[in-house]
Amino acid sequence: MDSILVTGGGELRGEIPIAGAKNACLTLMPATLLSEEPLTLTNAPRLSDIKTMSALLESLGTEITSMQDGKVLTMSSHNIDNLTADYDIVRKMRASILVLGPMLARAGQAVVSLPGGCAIGARPVDLHLKVMRALGAEIELRDGYVHAKASHGLRGATIEFPFVSVGATENALLAATLAKGTTVLKHAAREPEIVDLAQCLIAMGAQIEGHGTSTIIIQGVDRLNGATHAVVTDRIELGTYMLAPAFTGGEVECLGGRIELLEAFCEKLDEAGISVEQTARGLKVKRSNAGIKGINVTTEPFPGFPTDLQAQMMALLCTATGTSMLEEKIFENRFMHAPELGRMGAQIDVNGGVAKVTGVERLRGAPVMATDLRASVSLILAGLGAEGETLVNRVYHLDRGYERVEEKLRSCGAKIERITGQ
Ligand code: EPZ
Repeated sequence: MDSILVTGGGELRGEIPIAGAKNACLTLMPATLLSEEPLTLTNAPRLSDIKTMSALLESLGTEITSMQDGKVLTMSSHNIDNLTADYDIVRKMRASILVLGPMLARAGQAVVSLPGGCAIGARPVDLHLKVMRALGAEIELRDGYVHAKASHGLRGATIEFPFVSVGATENALLAATLAKGTTVLKHAAREPEIVDLAQCLIAMGAQIEGHGTSTIIIQGVDRLNGATHAVVTDRIELGTYMLAPAFTGGEVECLGGRIELLEAFCEKLDEAGISVEQTARGLKVKRSNAGIKGINVTTEPFPGFPTDLQAQMMALLCTATGTSMLEEKIFENRFMHAPELGRMGAQIDVNGGVAKVTGVERLRGAPVMATDLRASVSLILAGLGAEGETLVNRVYHLDRGYERVEEKLRSCGAKIERITGQ
C-alpha cells in the first residue's frame, strides 16, 4: 500500500486544474445501459472508482473505449448479455447500485449485489429499492443480492423521498426515463451532479424538467439515443484545493472553478478570513493577513455546506483563532479524521454528530492513517501547514477520488511525495 509524505511549511503559489466530477461520472456511466447507441463522456476524471465502474459495466456486456489518457470514455451497450452485478465488484464501490435502475429500465430485470457499508456509515439502499418498487418492479433480497424484475416494463409514479438522497434520486432519474408515463420525484436531491445527469439524459432524448429543484418531472419515452456529454467540474476536488493556500499562505488559482458550484462553502471561507475571486480561468484563493478565524459549520444537502468537504474544513479549523463547531448531519460516522488530526496536536472533542475544535498555534507532523476518501485528503492538507513530516498511510482511499494529488500540490510548491508500498 502506498503512502504520501508531506513536509510542512512554505507558501503555495500557482494554479491547479480541477478535473471532472467523480460523483457525476459515476452516475453518468450507467446511463449507457439505457441506449443501444454509443454514449461518450468527455472531461472524465482519471480515478480508480471510474475504473471500477468501467469493470462493472464491461461485466454486463458494455464495450468501453478510453481515449486521451482516460479523459474520454465511449461506451456501447448494444449487447447486454449479463444482468448480474457481482459482489466482487460491487463491494469495492457503493455507487455500483446505480446500475439497478438502468438495468431494470432496459432489460426488465437485474440482480445486483447489496453494497456493503463503508467507514462513514451503514449506508443502506432502502430508498433505492423503494423507488424501484414504486416504478412497478418486484424486489426480493436473497443471499446478499437484490433480485429485481419488471416483466411488463416500468411505469411512471409519484415518489416522495422521506429525506434527500443523492443516489436514490439518481437511480430514480435513470429508471424513469424509459418508464411508461409520468414520474414525479418530490424532495429530490438538487446537487450539481443531479443536474449534470439530467442534462446528459436530455441530450440522449429523455424528457426531464425541474432538475436542480426539489421536484423533478420525467415523461417516459420509448427509447434513448446516444450522445456526447462533458462531465461537470468536480466541486469537491475544487473545494479541497481552494483550502490548500489557507493552510500555508500564498495564492492558488483553481482552474475551471465556478462559485455557483460551492456558494455555501465560499460563504464559510469568507467568514473564516479566506478570499475567493472568480477569474476568467477559475477561482483564485488566498487567506487574509489576519489568519483563519474559527467558524461554525453544519453539513446539509445541496445547496448547503457539502458533507464531502467537512473533513477538509475541520483540518483547517484546527489552527484557527478561537473555537469552531462542526455538525455532521448526513452520515452517522464521519469524524474518523478527528483522532488522526489529534495525533498531530489538534484539540477536537467529538460528541455524537458534533465536533468542537479548539484552535492551536500549529500542528506537528506525525504518521497518520486514512480511513476514507475525504479523511485522506484532509490529513494531507493538515500536513501542508504542520511543522515537520506527516506520513499519510493507506492512500488507496485517496486514489479513488483525487487525480495525481501529489503532482497537483507539488506544482504549487508543496513538499510532497508518494512512497510506493510493499
Ligand atoms: C453520494 O452518496 C456521494 N457519492 C457521497 O460522496 C456524498 O457524501 C453523498 O452523496 C451526500 O452528498 C456518490 O455520489 C458516488 P445519499 P450517496 O444517498 O448517494 C442515507 C464521496 O466522498 N441513505 O445522499 O450514497 C445515507 O446512509 C462520497 O465522494 C439511506 O438511509 O448519499 C446517508 O446517511 C462519500 N437509505 C444519507 O441517506 C438510502 O437508500 C444521504 O445519503 C440511501 C441513503
